[in-house]
Amino acid sequence: MEDKDYQQILLDILENRDCKNIQRFRLEDNSCVWIRKASQRNLTVSSILGGIISALGLPMLTPNNRSGEDSLSDEVSRLTELADDGFIVPKAIAVRYQNPAGIMTADLGNGGYLRSLDDVLKSIVAEEKDPLPIWSQGVRALFELHQKNQYLGNAYCSNMAQMPDHRWAYFGFQDDPMNRMDLTSCQVRDCIFFIQSTAHYFNKNELKEAQEFWAETHQQYTPETAEALEKTIRRIKLIKIFTPIASLMGCRNINSSLRFMNGLL
Ligand SMILES: Nc1ncnc2c1ncn2[C@@H]1O[C@H](COP(=O)(O)OP(=O)(O)O)[C@@H](O)[C@H]1O
Ligand SMILES: [Mg+2]
Repeated sequence: MEDKDYQQILLDILENRDCKNIQRFRLEDNSCVWIRKASQRNLTVSSILGGIISALGLPMLTPNNRSGEDSLSDEVSRLTELADDGFIVPKAIAVRYQNPAGIMTADLGNGGYLRSLDDVLKSIVAEEKDPLPIWSQGVRALFELHQKNQYLGNAYCSNMAQMPDHRWAYFGFQDDPMNRMDLTSCQVRDCIFFIQSTAHYFNKNELKEAQEFWAETHQQYTPETAEALEKTIRRIKLIKIFTPIASLMGCRNINSSLRFMNGLL
């Protein structure tokens, strides 16, 4: 594997194959790699949206405001930094900044597909089983990552996956929010994104237990982070206008996250 020209393979695939946003490719020797095509973001829309969200007192929820090339280099830095801190993230093996731009990472799924926490929660709910055990493991994994002064940036449950050995792997680093906010805000952002992406998996009866588990973990954060998180949740609950803005940002299931947050403070 080491003597392959990954840079050339990346270019060949980006130029000649129909590559979706992110996709797994099997190479000639049967090994797998993942390739993400760099996407161009509408920076005007991001900055208008960011301005509105900041004005509402929620600067930690502002969207990515960097160009495709900058986002790629942010992604490489985040992957390196998290791996150096001992977290499981895809290893970048080739990057191309000029058009066609993209990144290639080593496969964490060992040739199979790793199921994200989102996928696992979906099937648990479909089978009418209890989402709390796996969800609370996800909450603890995020908390432990925060304890090590780290952050994900896009802590949706679709960006977290439990490996067969039960350790967690993390994905989705195209946006590094540290470019526009401090560590506490990045961690608060993670918590809100995690709640936002998972709250709808709980039915009314299960919700209370989930809220209690969250509240217990919340109390274990440093007073500064716990307070910033409380302030953000209070603000989100206050701002009715948050709902249309959140849908503009592509957030789904806003009502269930608000219901979750309502039970917290
Ligand atoms: N290197 C990798 N190894 C294994 N699975 C991967 C890898 N890269 C991406 N994936 C899978 O693809 C999903 C989407 O990747 P992500 O980087 O989050 O892209 P997107 O921005 O489209 O969500 C991940 O949640 C994970 O399941
Ligand atoms: Mg993702």
